[in-house]
Amino acid sequence: MQHISVAVIPGDGIGPEVMEEGLKVLKSIEEIHGGLRFEWDTFDWSCRYYLKHGRMMPENGLDVLREYDVILLGAIGAPTVPDHISLWELLLPIRRTFQQYINLRPIKLLRGLESPLRHKSHEHLDFVVVRENTEGEYSDMGGRLHRGTPYEMAVQNNVFTRYGVERVVKYAFNLAEKRRKRVAAATKSNGINHTMPFWDEIVREIAARHPDVRTDIYHIDALAAYFVTRPESFDVVVASNLFGDILTDLGAALVGGLGLAPSGNINPERAYPSMFEPIHGSAPDIAGKGIANPIAQIWSISMMMEHLHQPELAGLILEAIEEVLAERKVLTPDLGGKASTAELGGELVRKLKALSEKF
Ligand code: NAD
Ligand code: IPM
Ligand code: MN
Repeated sequence: MQHISVAVIPGDGIGPEVMEEGLKVLKSIEEIHGGLRFEWDTFDWSCRYYLKHGRMMPENGLDVLREYDVILLGAIGAPTVPDHISLWELLLPIRRTFQQYINLRPIKLLRGLESPLRHKSHEHLDFVVVRENTEGEYSDMGGRLHRGTPYEMAVQNNVFTRYGVERVVKYAFNLAEKRRKRVAAATKSNGINHTMPFWDEIVREIAARHPDVRTDIYHIDALAAYFVTRPESFDVVVASNLFGDILTDLGAALVGGLGLAPSGNINPERAYPSMFEPIHGSAPDIAGKGIANPIAQIWSISMMMEHLHQPELAGLILEAIEEVLAERKVLTPDLGGKASTAELGGELVRKLKALSEKF
């Protein structure tokens, strides 16, 4: 019997709603596999926790998480706590402390779904964004000066280290070697004159070591347009922290919306736990209504299975998602249906069990 410890952080808004369905899937995977046991502990670290305790997680929160094999997260953020507090005291410290420097975000149109892009189908929409996840534009260096005067100003430094850029770019090229051998790198070296030329330089250095991989460096503005006009030309897209963030919400919209899009925050060296979570946030506009789409959370669990060296289980979960989508019977409102979060989650679990006969 293989035991896998999972730290579960449902978080805020729709986070706990989609996590509930995710945990049903985790339970049914145990039944299907027989040789796997997930030992999960749930942590209520969230904006609710903040309002009670004055902090997003206990002082030793990161030490507690460090002991787990993996972390499964819903979403963080609520209108009651400023985002720069809630995210900088919980989500971002986890990504950084555990050196989850790869944020892996597949942009893949599943069977049974139509893209809002006319004339584009599954063959055209299947790429991966490798987002840098620990530095870049998301740096806490900077400050506010001259508050309350006409000279008031805010400065935020971007931090691009050779170490940080090299490791994410290398990962992207290695991934492309296993896929269709194309890398597109997002830049803005025309308008940002220190960090982005440095980023490009490192991309070129590493590209030179992969002569069989076609490399394109695109300005982020043009790249965003190409996502829409020729998504089929992308295989692996590598981007800095902020550019990767923006590109992946766009990518998600091209393949069915934020309710579907999963992500893995990966520490490739496995020195620390990796974390799996939907790309989306806590969606305060629909929270509490029971209509959030749980697929992004459940697909993130499929990515977690991949990370745990269980590719068959990862594939099985994705197959269940695709079949349920293709049947078009039980869909949440974001997909044009009337089903609740729990109904879609329940249907996915039923489908998973039915498919597992093959397992
Ligand atoms: P959001 O992703 O929460 O919502 C954007 C839109 O997508 C909303 O209209 C929402 O209803 C819809 N949506 C998102 N997930 C959905 C789902 N599963 N099913 C159906 N519809 C879904 O982005 P936002 O509104 O910019 O942010 C809300 C809060 O979440 C903020 O506090 C933000 O900082 C936080 N946030 C957290 C994370 C995270 O924890 N990883 C990610 C993004 C945003
Ligand atoms: C995401 C989110 C976060 C990010 C926010 C909430 C800090 O948008 O995971 O995409 O920008 O990384
Ligand atoms: Mn985002």
